[in-house]
Amino acid sequence: MINLTIEKIKNEADVYNIPRAKIATIDFINSIIQKKNVKSILEIGTGNGFSSASFSQNKNIKKILTFEIDPERIKLAKLNLKYFPKVEIIEKDFLEWNGDEKFDLIFIDGMKRLYKDFFLHSQKFSKKNTIFVSDNLNFLNNRSINNFENKYKNIIEKLREYVVFLEAEKNFQTDFYFDTGDGIAITTSK
Ligand SMILES: C[S@@+](CC[C@H](N)C(=O)[O-])C[C@H]1O[C@@H](n2cnc3c(N)ncnc32)[C@H](O)[C@@H]1O
Repeated sequence: MINLTIEKIKNEADVYNIPRAKIATIDFINSIIQKKNVKSILEIGTGNGFSSASFSQNKNIKKILTFEIDPERIKLAKLNLKYFPKVEIIEKDFLEWNGDEKFDLIFIDGMKRLYKDFFLHSQKFSKKNTIFVSDNLNFLNNRSINNFENKYKNIIEKLREYVVFLEAEKNFQTDFYFDTGDGIAITTSK
């Protein structure tokens, strides 16, 4: 029953052209949830609810807080996620949110040029062993930057800067999985 619902959410995202995590990314994160006994997730970027619905199926998971700013996507996500009571949608720009909860895993999947800001802001909601997962690092397959329009060039440049930023972080260790899904980084504190 639930699997069918998730399949419908996935198809809806594809029909309406709403970006969503690849299945390989969902599987990869689900294996981290299992291995590291992740109980709570903060997600930046709900889309129509596909990834949060998928993660919430994991028995370990008790709570997912997911942020979305696009009104149309919020409408769809609210309808879709009513079947997934562990997921709470916050209709707000994540960068303007201030809460005092801490999460086991933080999934960075919002506007690509703001990843560094998301990572820095999400420190407030992390603890020593929080796992940060950043998706889409292989945006447009890392093809030569000159082949793309300016708006894409800017995103690619920002993502490359983000990779360099993570690599240089002295307090964090990042492992990159460029061949998984759309390219994933797993960051934990040293
Ligand atoms: C890639 S989609 C999310 C896909 C979703 N995680 C999934 O896999 O099903 C990114 C979403 O992030 C939202 N977004 C971008 N910047 C945001 C922000 N600052 N705060 C909250 N949501 C944001 C966009 O509106 C967009 O719907």
